[in-house]
Amino acid sequence: MAKGKTTLFFCQNCGYESAKWQGQCPGCHEWNTFVEEPTVKGGSSVKRKSTVSGVKPVQLSHISTDEEQRISSGIRELDRVLGGGIVSGSLMLVGGDPGIGKSTLLLQVCYHLTEKKHKVLYVSGEESAQQIKLRAKRIGEFNEDLLILCETNLDSVRETIEQLRPEIAVIDSIQTMYNENVASAPGSVSQVRESTGVFMQIAKGMNISVFIVGHVTKEGVVAGPRVLEHMVDTVLYFEGDRYASYRILRGVKNRFGSTNEIGVFEMSQNGLREVANPSEYMLDGKPVNASGSVVACSMEGTRPILIEIQALVCQSNLPMPRRTTAGTDFNRVNLLLAVLEKRAGMHLSACDVYVNIAGGIRMTEPAIDLGLILAVVSSFKDIVIDEKTIAFGEVGLSGEIRSVNMAQQRVQEAKKLGFETILMPKVSMKAITKTEGIRIIGLETVRDAVQYLMSEKNCC
Ligand code: TYD
Ligand code: MG
Repeated sequence: MAKGKTTLFFCQNCGYESAKWQGQCPGCHEWNTFVEEPTVKGGSSVKRKSTVSGVKPVQLSHISTDEEQRISSGIRELDRVLGGGIVSGSLMLVGGDPGIGKSTLLLQVCYHLTEKKHKVLYVSGEESAQQIKLRAKRIGEFNEDLLILCETNLDSVRETIEQLRPEIAVIDSIQTMYNENVASAPGSVSQVRESTGVFMQIAKGMNISVFIVGHVTKEGVVAGPRVLEHMVDTVLYFEGDRYASYRILRGVKNRFGSTNEIGVFEMSQNGLREVANPSEYMLDGKPVNASGSVVACSMEGTRPILIEIQALVCQSNLPMPRRTTAGTDFNRVNLLLAVLEKRAGMHLSACDVYVNIAGGIRMTEPAIDLGLILAVVSSFKDIVIDEKTIAFGEVGLSGEIRSVNMAQQRVQEAKKLGFETILMPKVSMKAITKTEGIRIIGLETVRDAVQYLMSEKNCC
């Protein structure tokens, strides 16, 4: 028998291939992630019928951009994240924890599309037709343009799509799809890669927009393969606290639009509902007259969102004080604590510091630095920050408060929600047109910010 190798080792985290087992993956540096998987029988899996035949090169100048047709999904928040609607022939990955609402969102998309007489195929490898029907009943009355296929065999899914030629197909989920030519189990790196390749051919060759659902591991990446992220056109992540009702849809990669837009939804009895004004929603339940709480403003794409930052600073009994962050970057918070210690004389090194972005949303824009600093000082000195105040600005290592972009939009949003005082970088003030009924305070350094808080206390 020829000594051909029929198995390879794949990293289950990033998809790295290796001829032998290794303890640590050279690709992603994770430990113990290599699993032996048989390679494709017969050397190549490319037994597919080529659907892209006879394609000739065309001159770039002869391609009209009208060819990029977009179909509205009927859900404005989703259209925003996709960059204006579903591009025909695109392959989109929707990732997220189990139970976050991926199937619900896509079934709602199917509902709106079929209402507009688009032909849609929903392939489910996870749920039975009855289960899908039960879910659909909560969403609305579906018409006959939605076809349901409960199947996990990749070949028969492909054949059905070729026969039916829908405009949009939904694959729920990629981890359940099974290709007979690949001997490893469904959900393994080779299976997922193989299946995604087939759906890519379907999308590009037949000009069908395909949504793929992908589960996410506890580390927050699409289970198994990052390879999948490279292959698709758009990657959307569904995030949010499972215990809170709102959900955030975030664009991570988008070949047809910007990637920093977010869509905000609320899970209700009848599926996901769009949240048109997320700031109001995020600030709901903000405590009054409590120290350690401040409202900050972060730009998510083109939209400013106001969030409440909470900090709790207390005397530590531990030799190495505890620092905990939820909803923001841990290292960034540590850096800001060091800036406060060195540049503003705050002795925080003997204190435990807990920081939380209320509502479970994750914010990492540097413009929330000033808010983080104020929340920490407010808790440390037990000074209540006026509830009609918001803060934004980036903080540098010398303690300087640096400019941020789109300052005017942030001020506008604050005004819309009835805030009266804005603490912001002095250097960004020239970008602001005078706004009635709002007091703008420009700060140059962290020391200025601390002094402002102290003087507020004096005048109260
Ligand atoms: P689901 O869409 O099945 O999640 P995923 O496909 O990401 O695993 O999410 C279902 C969850 O949402 C489940 O906990 C029930 C809840 N839900 C509602 O609260 N209201 C609804 O109308 C629907 C359809 C589901
Ligand atoms: Mg599901």
